[in-house]
Amino acid sequence: ANTENNCIVIFGASGDLTYRKLIPALYNLYKIGRLTEHFSVLGVARTELADADFRQKMRDALIKNEKASGQILEDFCSHLYYQAINTRDAKDYGKLVPRLDELHDKYCTNGNTLYYMSTPPSLYGVIPECLAAHGLNTEEQGWKRIIVEKPFGYDIKTAESLDVQIHRFFEEHQIYRIDHYLGKETVQNLLVLRFSNGFFEPLWNRNYIDYVEITGAEEIGVEQRGGYYDGSGAMRDMFQNHLLQVLAMVAMEPPAIINADSMRDEVAKVLYCLHPLSNDDVKNNLVLGQYTSAEINGERVKSYIQEEGVPADSNTETYMALRCEIDNWRWAGVPFYIRTGKRLATRVTEVVIHFKTTPHPVFSQNAPENKLIIRIQPDEGISTRFGLKKPGAGFEAKEVSMDFCYSDLATSSLLTAYERLLLDAMKGDATLFARTDAVHACWKFVQPILNYKASQGRVYEYEAGSWGPTEADKLIAKTGRVWRKPS
Ligand code: BG6
Repeated sequence: ANTENNCIVIFGASGDLTYRKLIPALYNLYKIGRLTEHFSVLGVARTELADADFRQKMRDALIKNEKASGQILEDFCSHLYYQAINTRDAKDYGKLVPRLDELHDKYCTNGNTLYYMSTPPSLYGVIPECLAAHGLNTEEQGWKRIIVEKPFGYDIKTAESLDVQIHRFFEEHQIYRIDHYLGKETVQNLLVLRFSNGFFEPLWNRNYIDYVEITGAEEIGVEQRGGYYDGSGAMRDMFQNHLLQVLAMVAMEPPAIINADSMRDEVAKVLYCLHPLSNDDVKNNLVLGQYTSAEINGERVKSYIQEEGVPADSNTETYMALRCEIDNWRWAGVPFYIRTGKRLATRVTEVVIHFKTTPHPVFSQNAPENKLIIRIQPDEGISTRFGLKKPGAGFEAKEVSMDFCYSDLATSSLLTAYERLLLDAMKGDATLFARTDAVHACWKFVQPILNYKASQGRVYEYEAGSWGPTEADKLIAKTGRVWRKPS
C-alpha cells in the first residue's frame, strides 16, 4: 500500500483554521490528484455534530472560499467524518479507537494516522497524553505523526516544558511543528537561489555584504483576533517563528544534501549563532510600536487598543524592529535589520541583501547601491539593482534594475503553504518543519527581548498606514542606513 495513505485526525475541527486552511488545502490536493482515494479526515472537537453536519459545514466553506462545486466536491466530502469528544478527558478518547479502526479498514490506510493539533495551545500537552492512554501513538500498526501548530510555547520555559510533554508520548521523528512560512515557495527558493548559483555563492558573506534587511509588513490590523494577539504581540506572532526561519534560510551554511536531518542541522546551527542580546543590546537595538487610529483612503481605521478583545491600556507591540548579528565566520559584523508589523503602509515580505559599494567612487559621489531584493510576497520575484551609465554627457551612474517575476513561470503547479506542508507530513518528509533544537534556539534568542519588554520596554505609537514609529528610522540611521520603503 502507498505509505502516504492515511487518516487525518483534526483536533479543533470546529475552529477557524480547519475550514479556512486545512480542509481547503486537502480539497485542492484531492482535486489535482495528489491525494488518492485512500484517505479520510476525522474532525474532532467538543461540539456534538453528525458526520453529515460536519460535511455540510465544510462543503459550504469550500463553495464559498474555494469556488468548489460538482462531483469532485461531493466525492471529497464523502471522505470527511466527525467525532465529538471532551478533549480534556483521556477516557473520552476511547471513542476514537473504533472510529479509526473503521476508517482504516474502509480506506485501506493500514493504521497510518496524522494527528493535527489545531486547538488552543493549552491542549498541546494534553492531546498526546490522552492519545497515548489508548495506544493511539504507537507505530505497531502504521505510522503515527502529530502536527503542532504555532505557538510552540509562550517563552523559553513553557516551550521547553511543552517539548518535554509531547516527547513523553511521541518521538521527535513523529513530531511535525508547522511554520507556514517554510511552506512558501519563495522561502524555499531562497535556498535554491543561494545554493544553485555559482555567482552568488562567493559573495554571500561578510566580505561583500554590507547589511541585510528582512521585512514582514502587513497592511491589515489584528482583525477579529485581538484576544489572542494581545497575549502574543509581534514578537511571538511573527518574529520568533516566521522571520527567524526566513533569517535562517538567508544565513545558514549549505547542507551537503537536502534532507530533513542535514537541512535542519544547518538551520539550528545558524540560529544558535545569533548574538545573544544583553539588556543594553536590547535597549539600543530594539524598537517596539503600537498602531494608532488614522484615516486611510477616506476611512478611519481603529487604533490597536480600540480593536475587539484588546484592553484599553494594552502595551502589546504590533510592530518591532531589531538590529541583530550572527556570530560566525560567514557573518561576523554584518548587521541584520529585521522589522515586522501590522497596519503598515503596505503588505510585503522581503529580504534585501545590500552589497558593499566599490572601494572608491569614480563616477559620482552617490554611487548606486548594489542590492538583491528577494520578494517573498506578494508580487513574488527577485530584483537586482545596480549602476549603469546615465545616458548623455559625462560619466554619471544611475541605478537600474533587472527583475524576475514568479508570475512569468507557469503557476498552475504551485502548491500553497498548507498544501505543501500537509503533503510533506503525509509523505514523512520533515525537511520543512521546525525541529526542536531550532525552536529552542529561537526562544533562547528572543527571551532577553521578552524580559526587557516585560520590565521596562517602551512601546512607541505609530499611525496606522505608516511605516512604523520614527524611532525605527533612527535605529537604522545610527549606522547611516535607511529602511527600504517597498511599494
Ligand atoms: C500568522 C500570524 O502566523 O501569520 C498572523 O498569526 C499573520 O498574525 C500571518 O497575519 C501572516 O501570514 P502570511 O502568510 O499572510 O504572511
